[in-house]
Amino acid sequence: MCGIVGYVGKKEPVNVILEGLRRLEYRGYDSAGIAVGGNGDGLQLRRAEGKLRNLEEVIRNKPLEGTYGIGHTRWATHGRPTEENAHPHRDCTGRIVVVHNGIVENYVTLKKQLIADGHKFVTETDTEIIAHLIEKYFIGEHVALEDAVRKAVRQLTGVFAVSVISSDEPNKIVAARNGPPAVIGLGEDEFFVASDVPAILHHTRNMFFLHDGDLAVITPNGVKVTDFDGNVLERKPQRVTWDPIQAEKGGFKHFMLKEIYEQPRAVRDTTLGRISLDTGKIFLDEMQITADDFRRFEQVYITACGTSWHAGLAAKFMLERLAKIRVEVDYASEYRYRDPLVGPNDLTILITQSGETADTIAAQRESKAKGSKTLAVCNVVGSMIAREAAGTVYTHAGPEIGVASTKAFTAQLTALFLITLHMAEVRGKISYDDARKYMEELAQLPGKLEHVLKLDAETEELAKKYHRASDFLFLGRGIHYPIALEGALKLKEISYIHAEGYPAGEMKHGPNALIDENLPVVIIATQDTRDANSVLKYEKTISNLQEVKARSGTVIAVATEGDPHIADHADHVVFLPEVPELLSPILEIVPLQLLAYHIAVRRGCDVDQPRNLAKSVTVE
Ligand code: F6R
Repeated sequence: MCGIVGYVGKKEPVNVILEGLRRLEYRGYDSAGIAVGGNGDGLQLRRAEGKLRNLEEVIRNKPLEGTYGIGHTRWATHGRPTEENAHPHRDCTGRIVVVHNGIVENYVTLKKQLIADGHKFVTETDTEIIAHLIEKYFIGEHVALEDAVRKAVRQLTGVFAVSVISSDEPNKIVAARNGPPAVIGLGEDEFFVASDVPAILHHTRNMFFLHDGDLAVITPNGVKVTDFDGNVLERKPQRVTWDPIQAEKGGFKHFMLKEIYEQPRAVRDTTLGRISLDTGKIFLDEMQITADDFRRFEQVYITACGTSWHAGLAAKFMLERLAKIRVEVDYASEYRYRDPLVGPNDLTILITQSGETADTIAAQRESKAKGSKTLAVCNVVGSMIAREAAGTVYTHAGPEIGVASTKAFTAQLTALFLITLHMAEVRGKISYDDARKYMEELAQLPGKLEHVLKLDAETEELAKKYHRASDFLFLGRGIHYPIALEGALKLKEISYIHAEGYPAGEMKHGPNALIDENLPVVIIATQDTRDANSVLKYEKTISNLQEVKARSGTVIAVATEGDPHIADHADHVVFLPEVPELLSPILEIVPLQLLAYHIAVRRGCDVDQPRNLAKSVTVE
């Protein structure tokens, strides 16, 4: 999830591009770069690690000018967030530069072939291979730039939005899309390409999005669109009437809502290239913990904080059930003080969106000091915890701006499930058929998440009804209990309503005393009808639900589509598609996020920056 801006026209491209990148910084901010041509000096590049202001400083000290150019703000997926790995990337000759948003899945294979052909690489990125592939055709075979880009992108698997310029064909940008967004802006004698509307909205309101498989050639004379085979296509521009400020949030009122809606993509990107339906195998090569290690481990310790800790609690159910290994889950802030019995035969998994949480870093160091290998599940490439871990499985959620974690959580659950499947496979605990079935279900999850997002209006209605409540209870059993905890955390942190998550079966041991007509109780009562254990838990949960009703409580149930009985017991029901129980948390949390969001909005709270909280907690 990176940001791209390209410009051809009469204005000074550096200013237009920097201004556009500033408006795209929500898409990534671990490094940035720009390349311009047209002043007779070939292509000039400036790049900097960190936020865009660092690049602006570099340009102030070493200005550059030209007539066309491309820029990029990066959210690292391959390669650390260093200046060297920042985009744009060059070919061997320096006459071609490329910016890229996405993930090239087959970059290792392509890189090997290019190295065998004599290409020299200077970065760890997947993007650099695109520059070299284009060079192979453009310079090696003397084809036109757009034809060379066409030949190159046809070989890429994965997702990409790329923009390419060359000093050999000045005042031209070639842009191609297969996955991540790319919008083309049509101004007066000036043309733009960008990852999102806000980057160019101050210059033009006439624009169109490239479709997957489109390639655009942008020059001062206009824009020509073809498919990857060169067949000319017609794309009609539309007039965008958005308010520019709102546009930075993609038209959403808050980043949190935007991020809730990004979950199908976050889950898809986290799965991308890591499952093979053909072989039934999981590919987590970047994990750097060997199959032998996984066979050797006797126990798994999971430590994390807050929402990430809830993901860890859910992972315990996944790992114990499929990989048949004992799992303990600790709050990172408690872990080191209980002198854990962790040792060289154990794996410690650190779950962290930011990779910088001080408590989790301390827990990681405690485990390492006791000889345990550490595996990070992290959303930020090159962050402290990822650097110190033996291996990392990155979640590809993209930057999360809202303080309340949403898409990072569902991406964590996805990554943890992939780790579980991998571990179950190498330990010989799962059959090929079962692994394959789970992979098919994983591949369908983004579509099911899209379906769940349609509950938005229903949850808004619930918020209208219950936003004045002073307390909420969230209940769940088994793997649904961590989701009850997470639902309660979402509500309390953004709406300031007191909320508790509880295991449904524990109610009768105390909390039933709280129930009266003023207490909304959210009960997760989903089931996988193909799984006897899940059905049994469901039946027990229904008994708990009836206990709440018998005490005049108000019940909002989260249930499985097709459940014919649930509506008889609950005041409100939101229905989710059926999935295997171990994947159900990924769907269940979405209506709870939406409920918390709409309640907070109704109460006039600052949804994206709740009081007293910070995105990354770097003190213990
Ligand atoms: C809640 C939330 C926090 C974080 C916690 C850990 O919405 O975001 O509870 O989950 O501070 O942060 P990371 O995952 O960055 O270690």
